[in-house]
Amino acid sequence: MNVTDDIKQKLDIVDVISQYIQLSKSGRNFKATCPFHAEKTASFFVFPEKQSWHCFGACATGGDIFTFVMKKEGLDFGQALRLLADKAGITLSSKTELRSKEDTARLDRLLKLNEVAAEYFHYLLLHEPEALTARQYADKRGLSSLAIGDFQLGYAPNKWDGLTNYLTKSGYAAEEQLAVGLIVPRDTGGYYDRFRNRLIFPIRDIKRRVAGFGGRALDDSLPKYLNSPQTVLFDKSSIIFGIDRAQGPISEKDSVVITEGYMDAITAHQYGFSNTVASMGTALTDRQISILRKLTRNIVVALDADPAGIEATTRSIVTIDEQIPKDHWMPWTQSKTYAELVKYEVQVVEIRDGKDPDEIIRNSPEKWALLLKESQPIIDFTLKKEIANINFDSSKDKSAVVSKLLPIISQINDAIRRAHYVQKLAGLLGIDERFVSDALFDLQSAERKNKSSYNRKAKRDYTDLTVTSRYIEEYCLTLLLQYTDLREQGLTLSADYFEHSENKDILLKWQANPDIDTIMAGLDPSMIDYFRHVQSFHTRLPGSLILDKRERELALKDCINRLLEGYVRSLEIKKKLILSAEKEKGDIESQVAKLIEHGIDESRQLQSIFKKRGRLFSRTRGV
Ligand code: UTP
Ligand code: MN
Repeated sequence: MNVTDDIKQKLDIVDVISQYIQLSKSGRNFKATCPFHAEKTASFFVFPEKQSWHCFGACATGGDIFTFVMKKEGLDFGQALRLLADKAGITLSSKTELRSKEDTARLDRLLKLNEVAAEYFHYLLLHEPEALTARQYADKRGLSSLAIGDFQLGYAPNKWDGLTNYLTKSGYAAEEQLAVGLIVPRDTGGYYDRFRNRLIFPIRDIKRRVAGFGGRALDDSLPKYLNSPQTVLFDKSSIIFGIDRAQGPISEKDSVVITEGYMDAITAHQYGFSNTVASMGTALTDRQISILRKLTRNIVVALDADPAGIEATTRSIVTIDEQIPKDHWMPWTQSKTYAELVKYEVQVVEIRDGKDPDEIIRNSPEKWALLLKESQPIIDFTLKKEIANINFDSSKDKSAVVSKLLPIISQINDAIRRAHYVQKLAGLLGIDERFVSDALFDLQSAERKNKSSYNRKAKRDYTDLTVTSRYIEEYCLTLLLQYTDLREQGLTLSADYFEHSENKDILLKWQANPDIDTIMAGLDPSMIDYFRHVQSFHTRLPGSLILDKRERELALKDCINRLLEGYVRSLEIKKKLILSAEKEKGDIESQVAKLIEHGIDESRQLQSIFKKRGRLFSRTRGV
């Protein structure tokens, strides 16, 4: 869902187009003489069920509500979006997005401000007499001076205006200090420092820019950690602590260790485990995962021993799974499942002999290395955890474990591996393997039944078809945005084949200039989030995480063919609809002649598409 869907839901295409031209009914659809070219017989049709329009006359073009308004009013997509959002009573956000040159300059200034603040805190920790307690605290926590320097740790003085005075003297306005969350407004007017008497952890993004700060209390006072609020620079859902220093080692070692806390990550780095980052205490978001996935596919999660932490991270990983529309088309991946491609790469480190990685590493780096080595696939880990909690005399407990684990096991596509886990589960529970495999069989046939009834329904349901076409469009865009070497092939794709205006807009912008920043600068601010979603779409797909050159060329080719096929098919359906409606009214003769004269010969086109696809598939099968 994005804002264009919201608008489409609120507005009806027939109402909108009726405001410009007079429509008359033609069966379930509407027609008019085309507003875009001069003609005597009506060849402009509006299809309420598909919320689309098409001119079968000289224009031979069509689209949705946005393309109509763009064409009629001479607007670009962004302008049409604003106009229709206004009609629909939807307020478009421009919130955290900065677009113009002035905004970029402001962003640079805010980043510099954060940098200045980090230097200020760091200087105080190293040199200021009043930072003595903080230095002692850092010492007590075992932080080496190298680690303090590497992570630019700092000290926020025990004053209400230490930082704000310094920043003001350095030329930064209160409004700017407020924008990055370093000061807090007072009820009585004026501001005060957010961070006071705390050990400061600057939080950098992957480009090494200071996005925000975390500050730890030097004693037991609460909150233990205070963090920057959500700001234009600090987006909690996409920030990963330590990524600035860990990105190189993550790529080199082709694996990342995700811990929960600042101290866990810093200590890990201090002892040479440099591919470690911290999730900052919350469940991983898909944005965070998608950042990490660009560096490696091997994720090791090191969760604190408390069950809440395990629950949260496991959940977040499973959530990614749920985002994959299982019954939709997947290019080249029919044989691979998420379980194989993603879950199998997620390993869990069990925290033993210490409360968190920080403590374990400090006690014994060798022990930590061993625990990392002993990390196990998340499915084994879950199995073990579930079994550890049951009463072996209770058949109810056993059956609960089976029903919890079977859905996970059933996701494994490899029959041998699946059998392995059936065996393992049965063995651990001390029950006959046959019971487990029978239960699995039942579950799988239930799943298959669901799936086929879903498929049957999908064939009838146009909205589901739209979902599929959106899916292909998004996949197509994600390929183009990710792989620069697909440019030439992408330039051959006609934007007409895209059904969704927002995707069409992105495609046209990419075709004009493939530079991501340029595309984003040209987008309406309310579409930025959607753009990011499309950009990272591939990270939510199984199998397409990393494609080699040939695979991605074939994937794009397949996309283009499917889009063309969808386009031609929907045109054919529309024509049939019109013909049957016009037949009832009797003036079929002229219509048919006209359609044949102007229309494309869809059947011939479809045939050639199938031929192309046939070739494509036989080639890939031979891999
Ligand atoms: P932990 O409570 O595990 O803290 O929270 P820690 O990192 O081990 O800290 P120490 O060792 O007690 O100093 C894990 C992470 O959750 C976030 C922080 O990012 C912390 O590192 N957190 C925790 C907060 O943001 N606020 C809090 O009050 C507590
Ligand atoms: Mn800790």
